[in-house]
Amino acid sequence: MSVRINPSILSADFVNFEAEFASISHADLIHIDVMDNHFVPNLTFGLPMVSRMQEITPKPLDVHLMISNVDKWASGYAETGAYSVTFHAEASENPVDLARKLRAIGARAGLALKPGTGLEPYLDVLAEFDQILIMTVEPGFGGQALIEETLAKVKQARRHIDAEALEVWLQVDGGIDESNIERVSEQGADTFVAGSAVFKASDRNLQIDTLRNLATAAHHH
Ligand code: DX5
Ligand code: ZN
Repeated sequence: MSVRINPSILSADFVNFEAEFASISHADLIHIDVMDNHFVPNLTFGLPMVSRMQEITPKPLDVHLMISNVDKWASGYAETGAYSVTFHAEASENPVDLARKLRAIGARAGLALKPGTGLEPYLDVLAEFDQILIMTVEPGFGGQALIEETLAKVKQARRHIDAEALEVWLQVDGGIDESNIERVSEQGADTFVAGSAVFKASDRNLQIDTLRNLATAAHHH
């Protein structure tokens, strides 16, 4: 199974996205954090900017919506042509309906869970999604330390995906760096978001390669 490294542009220069995208050409996908200052206490950008990013990006976009009323707003992001749209279970009235809508538009559908949200209620509907995102920090800000307790949920998700032979990517987001990515990979994650760990590096592509090599060597699936 292949491992993916998705740099998060939350740690990039927000007035130089074209150059910032070019500086991470070894990325598998580019992770785009949309925040509304309501679902999370931070604000980034919305649909017009993601739409423009989609026009200039050399890589598929992995859009992570940290917004309320997602049943209303998520489809617009899929309509930009974004490769993947992930929304929070806590922000949706009907995650399955929304996943079907996103897929019908042509995007991969992702379901995100905050650290305090249990996986059990969603196990039976995982097949409706292309990706599950287990948040390894409280969503809202880059540069936080990984919450160790979230790794049990990663392992639980991996067990279920394998047992049911689902084609679901298992993504982790928050506090991932070269010191812990092997451990997180051992728990079964295959898709790694890294913001500060990539953008603070003097050679970002070298850092992406290093993270991918560490994760691949530790992956047993
Ligand atoms: C946090 C965002 C992350 C963030 C990760 O709410 O969803 O994507 O950019 O940043 P790091 O890797 O610095 O923890
Ligand atoms: Zn994110």
